[in-house]
Amino acid sequence: MILSPSLLSADVGNLAAELSALEAAGLRWVHWDVMDGRFVPNITFGQHVIRQLRKRSGLFFDVHLMIVEPENYLSEFQAAGADMLVVHAEATRHLQRTLAEIRRLGMKAGVALNPATPLSALEYVLEDVDMILLMSVNPGFGGQKFLPITYEKIRRLRRMLDERRLETLIQIDGGVTPDNTADLVRAGADVLVSGSAFFSVPPYEARRLAFESKAEEARSLTL
Ligand code: DX5
Ligand code: ZN
Repeated sequence: MILSPSLLSADVGNLAAELSALEAAGLRWVHWDVMDGRFVPNITFGQHVIRQLRKRSGLFFDVHLMIVEPENYLSEFQAAGADMLVVHAEATRHLQRTLAEIRRLGMKAGVALNPATPLSALEYVLEDVDMILLMSVNPGFGGQKFLPITYEKIRRLRRMLDERRLETLIQIDGGVTPDNTADLVRAGADVLVSGSAFFSVPPYEARRLAFESKAEEARSLTL
């Protein structure tokens, strides 16, 4: 399991220090929630902020675009230093073209689905993505309650990927805590995003270990 802490819940006035603290605590990924006030009812940070912090961090930048028409900004996020660029299926008219363009620019490509969007939206783009992000809350805010229907969605997606012999990562975002980590990993999740449940309980190394030990528990139960 890879843990990707969402900076939405970090000390945003002190992002450079937060990024160093994550790296020192043994994290490998960090999740950037980019919101435009149109796709979601909230505004956060964008490519300019990410670009400034890229110089300060060796973490894998997992960038979740909650913006309409993300196709207009792909090269800007590439220049800003995104490693993985995730777009919402609901936000771009020509999803396959957008995903292919992300890869052409040299980034990993991800697609995100809102809780109400069916998995059938992915059927013809499975080969075009490195990661699928299933939202387990409606996007826009940190600190919301996890929607349990997500478990069934993960299991079905894992089956779809297995049938096609694909090793595409499944990422879960929203309301993830150490308490639901084992169930999420057992259902088939590979990458867990956590904002409020991660940052509210420092120190970060102990918090990372709290999530990882739950993931380990799930693995040993399956074997
Ligand atoms: C929600 C964002 C999430 C959010 C997760 O729109 O995509 O990444 O920050 O926060 P928690 O873990 O607090 O639900
Ligand atoms: Zn997110």
